[in-house]
Amino acid sequence: MATILVTGANGQLANELKVLSAGFPQYQFLFTTKDELPIENTAALTSFFEKNKIDYLINCAAYTAVDKAESEKEKAFLINAVAVANLANICSIYQTKLIHISTDYVYDGSANVPLKEEGKTAPLNIYGASKLKGEELALEKNSSTLIIRTSWVYSSFGNNFVKTMMRLFKEKSEISVVDDQFGSPTYAADIAGVIMKFIEETKQGKSFSGIVNYSNSGVTTWYEFAEEIKLLLNSNCKINAIPTAAYPTPAKRPLYSVLDTSKIKKLLEVEIPDWKESLKKCVGILNGD
Ligand SMILES: NC(=O)c1ccc[n+]([C@@H]2O[C@H](COP(=O)([O-])OP(=O)(O)OC[C@H]3O[C@@H](n4cnc5c(N)ncnc54)[C@H](OP(=O)(O)O)[C@@H]3O)[C@@H](O)[C@H]2O)c1
Repeated sequence: MATILVTGANGQLANELKVLSAGFPQYQFLFTTKDELPIENTAALTSFFEKNKIDYLINCAAYTAVDKAESEKEKAFLINAVAVANLANICSIYQTKLIHISTDYVYDGSANVPLKEEGKTAPLNIYGASKLKGEELALEKNSSTLIIRTSWVYSSFGNNFVKTMMRLFKEKSEISVVDDQFGSPTYAADIAGVIMKFIEETKQGKSFSGIVNYSNSGVTTWYEFAEEIKLLLNSNCKINAIPTAAYPTPAKRPLYSVLDTSKIKKLLEVEIPDWKESLKKCVGILNGD
């Protein structure tokens, strides 16, 4: 039985993998939290790999506090870059397939057409720079690493935009949301599904490596995203559309970070759900429907 290790087990994506794992009894899943297996701890990792034969490592561990990273550069790079290099190295030694997750924030947002994997990267913030470094080091240390770049992730688990909006709609009668950043919201459950498809196909002898984009299909703004959540909840909260300039944050964000997903569609022959369709599922779960 092949064993899949999932790091960062308390996060959004890892929790969705946990839900999905019930439908994959042919694999043994090991989920490790930050406390159980801090990915920057090389000795702990080595000891873990010595004790357990790991066939696939899905690295869901990351430093994801985008604004905080501006004042915690060293920590962001330690977890998102140095530790990822370590993981790639260890995976190479123990012949483990590494699946690592990266972000649309590796781009600078100056494009106006969907971004391809090989397109120019130029992160605008520390988080994006640390994730880009992680991608580079992972591939340098272990060329068989598969990196999935995704965007605007939400889930019924953890903290995210959908849950924040749901809370604000209850607490406030009026809120403001930026309407000049364009991207594709992505349900972590859909990313989890695609990761398992990669693993299933790898098991059948196919080989995947390098960078692959995955996001739900369709393009929107944070404002329209909020309006859609409001619609699903029948909320009366008034949402004002504001420009990014009116909502300054420590970290700059790309104005356009829509990912071109044609590569993954071709590789896996998958249909990618529209963001509104997936959002409906997630809001349904959060609402207990
Ligand atoms: N969220 C987004 O919008 C978004 C967008 C694009 C790409 N991504 C990428 O997608 C991946 C999954 O994101 P997510 O939204 O599931 O993130 P998340 O919910 O923030 O989960 C990340 C998990 O990693 C854990 N972690 C932090 N430092 C660690 C360490 N040193 N060792 C082990 N675990 C550690 C965190 O633990 P604590 O909670 O205890 O700190 C947390 O449980 C990440 O690579 C992220 O960069 C996310």
